[in-house]
Amino acid sequence: MYTNVWYVAGLSEHLADEPVKVTMLGADFVLFRDSDGKANCISNVCPHRGSSLANGTLYKDGTLACPFHGWRFNGSGECTLIPSRRDHEVEVLAPRARTDAYATVEKYGLVWVCLGDDPDAASPIFDMPEWDDHTFRFTVNEEIWEADYHTAKFTNLDYVHLPVVHGILFQGNENPIQAPEHHVTVTDHGFQSVMRVNSTPSEGVWGTLREEGAKVESIMKFFVPGFTLRGQVEIGGIGSGMFNIFYEFTTPIDEHRTMMRHYFLRNYKMEEDFDTEHTRRNLQNVHQDKRLGESQRPKVAADGPNPRGIYTHDEDKIMLTYWGLLEKLRLKGWQLDRKNLKEPDREVRIIPSPARKANPEGWVYDTVALVPAGTPFEKPVSELHFVDIDNVESTRPKDYGQSEPVNPHDPLSNATLEWETAALERVDKAPPFVQSMIIENAEKAAKERGTNFVTVKLLEELQAKQMGGASAGKGPA
Ligand code: FES
Ligand SMILES: [Fe+2]
Repeated sequence: MYTNVWYVAGLSEHLADEPVKVTMLGADFVLFRDSDGKANCISNVCPHRGSSLANGTLYKDGTLACPFHGWRFNGSGECTLIPSRRDHEVEVLAPRARTDAYATVEKYGLVWVCLGDDPDAASPIFDMPEWDDHTFRFTVNEEIWEADYHTAKFTNLDYVHLPVVHGILFQGNENPIQAPEHHVTVTDHGFQSVMRVNSTPSEGVWGTLREEGAKVESIMKFFVPGFTLRGQVEIGGIGSGMFNIFYEFTTPIDEHRTMMRHYFLRNYKMEEDFDTEHTRRNLQNVHQDKRLGESQRPKVAADGPNPRGIYTHDEDKIMLTYWGLLEKLRLKGWQLDRKNLKEPDREVRIIPSPARKANPEGWVYDTVALVPAGTPFEKPVSELHFVDIDNVESTRPKDYGQSEPVNPHDPLSNATLEWETAALERVDKAPPFVQSMIIENAEKAAKERGTNFVTVKLLEELQAKQMGGASAGKGPA
């Protein structure tokens, strides 16, 4: 986890006239609006006796009162009033009463907070050209993953997983699983990868948007601010002007959990009715990634690339580019030192703030341990061994390894048994949040009946059974 990065702390629409507690980088913060409506972010831990400021009261003068003794703090973290002795200046009564405040801005419907003491040095928040472009429609998703944020991010930072996890085959390639040639360009603030490919036409409505065989261009961008991934596919084929775009904003809650927020955008099929279907199709991919990420080990990912890890050919080019960017943040002394982090129950975790940099003395709580500037990863990214097979002659026939799996695994639904096509179509029509439950129940029932085949008949039987129970009504249509 890194300081001096702009993180997405929340959606603007969720920040109204109540303070909101947010945990990021394992530390607690409170967001609140002052009298001008400006969003602020300060440490949530009262410097007096450690109460949670988010449980306090927001006053019309834009100060937040602690729920214990009512000390008031403004958006700059200064204590402005001690009500029990309001006839005295705070500087006289409690000269060290202040809490850490962080640079906060609202952009693109998001509350961005720079968690660190040097916001001017942080990578600037990128442009989102679609935000003011009314030819685009947005839908929004917010969810917590029980996974470290690197692990969460890595479920999208390579191309090979697209066919394997999401069923998006690279048609036209001799080997449709092989990552097509892609060009990665890097800056200090992120990277971009571009490929042109003829991928599998999507099923359902999306399948009608482009002609069979049309090439699509896929542009993946990563921005350090928000650990944001932006994916863009010209869904109708190159030159169609029909874009499917997503932004994935990633905020580490702590070493184990990650807040994932998504904007799904489109400039085709603009009718509101299509929002549900559009979100469902996007979330299908997101949740395939989530299942993966949450089951990967180690649960708390390493602080850097595994020096003994296997990095193949150019398939891991994007992942290593990502580590290269993070290495720069580490060398600046911005990485939290996980090995020296004390248990959160034993210490107050404070992320360094600009006020500390200006005046490091006299704070009630210490800041978290950081890796000293100039400390490389266990093995610098430039020294990681890259297996290069470009010039190695093939020793196997092209169609080697193409046998059918024993238990077909449907990449769209994540079904593990064999399913009657019509049965899968039914599941597809059900609301997204019940789909995995239907699949799980149906496969369990099928196994209980000694079969590996799920039929419409079985779904109907289960639905009829459920209709009599409490959770009926939302089964497949
Ligand atoms: S604990 Fe916050 S004012 Fe006393
Ligand atoms: Fe993915």
